[in-house]
Amino acid sequence: MIEDRYDIAFVANLARREKQIQQIYRPVIAVHKWFARRPGTLFRALMLAEFSDLSLQDAFYQAANLSGKTIADPFMGGGTPLLEANRMGAHVQGCDINPMAYWIVRQEMEYLNLQDYSAAASKLRKTLESELGHLYRTRCEVCGNPEAHVKYFLWVKVVDCHHCGNSLDLFPDYLVAEDARHPKKVLVCSECGQLTETSDRKKPGYCTNCQAPLPTVGSAKSNRCHCSRCGEKTKYPNGTKTPIRHRLFAIEYQCPNCKPKRQGRFFKASDTDDLAKVAEAENRLAALSPQYIPDDAIPAGDETTRLHRWGYSRYRELFNARQLIGLETSCRLIAAQKDERIRNALATNLSDLLRYQNMLCRYDTMTLKSLDIFSVHGFPVGLTQCESNLLGIENGGSFPTGSGGWLNIIEKFTKAKAYCDKPFEVRHQGTAKGGRKVTVPISGEWIGDSRNGVAKRALDIVCADAANWDWRPESLDGVFTDPPYFGNVQYAELMDFCYVWLRRLVGKGNPAFSTSSTRHAQELTGNENMRRGLAHFTEGLAEVFSRTAAALKPGGPFVFTYHHNDITAYFPIAVAILDAGLVCSKVLPCPAEMGASIHIKGTMSSTVDSVFVCRRRQDRGIPEPDVIDNAIQVDMRALETGGLNATLGDTRCVTYGHIIRQAINDLAGDWQTRVSVKDKLDILVRWFATFGGQAVARELTGENCSRESQSLFSDQTFPPIAIKRSVHEPVSV
Ligand SMILES: C[S@@+](CC[C@H](N)C(=O)[O-])C[C@H]1O[C@@H](n2cnc3c(N)ncnc32)[C@H](O)[C@@H]1O
Ligand SMILES: [Zn+2]
Ligand SMILES: [Zn+2]
Ligand SMILES: [Zn+2]
Repeated sequence: MIEDRYDIAFVANLARREKQIQQIYRPVIAVHKWFARRPGTLFRALMLAEFSDLSLQDAFYQAANLSGKTIADPFMGGGTPLLEANRMGAHVQGCDINPMAYWIVRQEMEYLNLQDYSAAASKLRKTLESELGHLYRTRCEVCGNPEAHVKYFLWVKVVDCHHCGNSLDLFPDYLVAEDARHPKKVLVCSECGQLTETSDRKKPGYCTNCQAPLPTVGSAKSNRCHCSRCGEKTKYPNGTKTPIRHRLFAIEYQCPNCKPKRQGRFFKASDTDDLAKVAEAENRLAALSPQYIPDDAIPAGDETTRLHRWGYSRYRELFNARQLIGLETSCRLIAAQKDERIRNALATNLSDLLRYQNMLCRYDTMTLKSLDIFSVHGFPVGLTQCESNLLGIENGGSFPTGSGGWLNIIEKFTKAKAYCDKPFEVRHQGTAKGGRKVTVPISGEWIGDSRNGVAKRALDIVCADAANWDWRPESLDGVFTDPPYFGNVQYAELMDFCYVWLRRLVGKGNPAFSTSSTRHAQELTGNENMRRGLAHFTEGLAEVFSRTAAALKPGGPFVFTYHHNDITAYFPIAVAILDAGLVCSKVLPCPAEMGASIHIKGTMSSTVDSVFVCRRRQDRGIPEPDVIDNAIQVDMRALETGGLNATLGDTRCVTYGHIIRQAINDLAGDWQTRVSVKDKLDILVRWFATFGGQAVARELTGENCSRESQSLFSDQTFPPIAIKRSVHEPVSV
């Protein structure tokens, strides 16, 4: 059982490393972007600890056999727990309210003939190359080669001066590149638009083309832009009803002739040929009757309303003409594929490609690559944007040059599906940084519904509200899940960006794609726009927990991960557990998010999840209480052994997990399911006050007691309006 066999230090070491470069440990995640994926190693460990007779460390690197077991995840998202269960041979039942999650998990798990896929994918690229390849070429400024490959087109937003009509470039900064990956900093001249390289940002000197002094500050700041002609300021976006136009101002490219002799990258200001290609793309788009470009309006939302403020009212406006013809042409080629699985795989690729092929991507001046639209969990609109090469650039058999093209997507996807056929684990010699890594093939395991068309496994993957799904009583050997965290990620608002395209391409006849948006009144995330508050979240979660717990076989584990930097965000979880008739036998800590680059002791940033291991009270009885401060110390020591450099925020999460476990087990005896949600949450508030409230919680984490409480419940009133969002990982995959 998990309670006896789980090994905190061993799993922390794996999960921590996995979250730093998740695609190395679980390449399957590259099938398609999903947000906040939990570590696969964690769920593998949990299932092995529950179902294997070996010690966890022994079991981990061997093939396991869970055939005959049924594992469910009511909130499957990107599918992490189900992939692990399926890989060990279990029958899996997965549910998610979001059609994109449903689609992605199916694509991760359905068998695909990789040879046929690769042939189809390279044919697709060849056709695109012959139809559109010239639009991604530019003249090399060093040798004059007209066939240099564009890595990234860089665009700047332009408005007309409200006073004199002058065109104003909205440069927050005239910097194209920092001198981290390139020998010098690269600046745009505000007078002539040419690029100059400089070592000193503060005293950059003069433009090498027109000798004008190079700018040290940008032209646009705090939604205002200064006009150099009339001296007045113009506001933006200023209630605009149409998107602000863009101007191509620079290009990062790759010249195969000059590359071997060159230190650093190739940058140029756009020339007349480059602009002529922009015009060609615009003309071609105007002449096209699109079949796949969506014309859907962008609905208002907690995240999407920002797009409205910038004048975007339709999804198609988030793309430029070259991107739209590239995507439309790709869709047509995909739709013409005869083999359904290959068609679906390429459609999944297109959907994932979208996040790089749009005009919300930004260019990272430090790492010199594109930051895709999902690099943060929202839709921030920048002033300069980055357009990636649609095709991707070959690099002599090594990793493709640049990011965000078909080649990159195909390569990642191929690795992802190859891993499904031959999964592996990574073993580390020691916990120290730089410890030797050994890849251990786990032969005998595989991910999928069938293998080479012979071996078959049951996959029950549905798109549905888990609170309304018919979970068959006493049919499950375990529930392993990662529920939504109240207001952290607006999955539906974000995923609609891909969905509107995918629906046109593969949605016909698929009931999961019947609605025009992935938004759903019953999605369990706080959402102001859809008027979903804490009560809705708590009730929904309780309903899902109750139904799935009732579907467990006697004694089966109900396990889920959770973390928040506000203890009040755990109260709905406690209510859901208690309503479901569960008790909490163990809370285990595990790193589950990417460590920030500056992960400093004493900060509140946190990466540690609490894994709640629950069982039905009728099977388990009420567990004995722990001595909380001892339990926290034991956990922190084990995490340290696992190589985690824990922050105060991490200690807090571990502490909150233990406090909530105690609350659940204290309250289980007298819990009344029939009272209102407000009353149930009030019971938690009162329990916490009796426990000692924030003061005791802070004492347990070793925090400075004079610190102001962050809690919305700190005045002991209820209900709060909303729980603050916790900081989430900034970038993944
Ligand atoms: C935290 S995510 C799961 C992430 C996943 N464990 C992973 O590692 O990729 C939570 C998921 O719950 C889903 N969800 C929210 N409300 C739901 C409901 N009522 N029924 C089913 N799924 C729901 C969301 O769409 C989201 O995919
Ligand atoms: Zn050249
Ligand atoms: Zn100049
Ligand atoms: Zn002016």
